[in-house]
Amino acid sequence: MVNGVKNLNNEAQASRVPPRWRNEVERVLITEAQLARRIQALARDIERDFRGRETVVVALLNGTLMFMADLLRRLNLPLRLDFMGVASYGAGTRPGRLVFTKELRLDVRGRDVLLVDDILDTGKTLAGVLPRLRALKPRRLKTCVLLNKSARRSEKVEADYVGFEIPDLFVVGYGLDYAERYRNLPFVGVLHPHIYQPPAEQKRVV
Ligand code: IMP
Ligand code: MG
Repeated sequence: MVNGVKNLNNEAQASRVPPRWRNEVERVLITEAQLARRIQALARDIERDFRGRETVVVALLNGTLMFMADLLRRLNLPLRLDFMGVASYGAGTRPGRLVFTKELRLDVRGRDVLLVDDILDTGKTLAGVLPRLRALKPRRLKTCVLLNKSARRSEKVEADYVGFEIPDLFVVGYGLDYAERYRNLPFVGVLHPHIYQPPAEQKRVV
């Protein structure tokens, strides 16, 4: 399978975390080269399915920033781009209540829409966003995520295009954050648990 992380392990393991990030990032899960190759293949799949009509790409802020920049320049299709702002206010690495921070501005009625997010985890984000988009009556609505962490799914939602299936690990980099940090790493890495799990004695102090 092209998108199985199992196939990626050798290459990712051989790629060391840059010294600057070693205290915070445990290991590289997906390298820059692996991201580039897979995104090229995703773009081919999307082009094949969306050919013939202008597409509206709707990206969710903020985690999609790098993925969008790379996917868009590979998409050889007429398209318009818009963003929706969605934040999930949870504690640490747990998802919480969905808050819409930016509404769509383009009219998607009757259009072919590709909704893009960084990672599909519990599914709460897509389960919250999809009904809002469907209510705007697009002709077609497909979803694309860079990463799929299916082990944690609690909502009945799947993506049509998936970059990589990943295990149940908290990952950062390539747009993905922990507390708004690490978005600038050019690879996807596994965050060191000590970053989000404070020592037991500190935990009791609220
Ligand atoms: P869901 O709503 O639980 O499916 O999660 C989707 C959102 O949670 C993503 O858009 C991310 O912002 C965040 N998220 C889930 N897992 C991770 C992770 O491993 N690293 C960084 N952000 C994550
Ligand atoms: Mg996000």
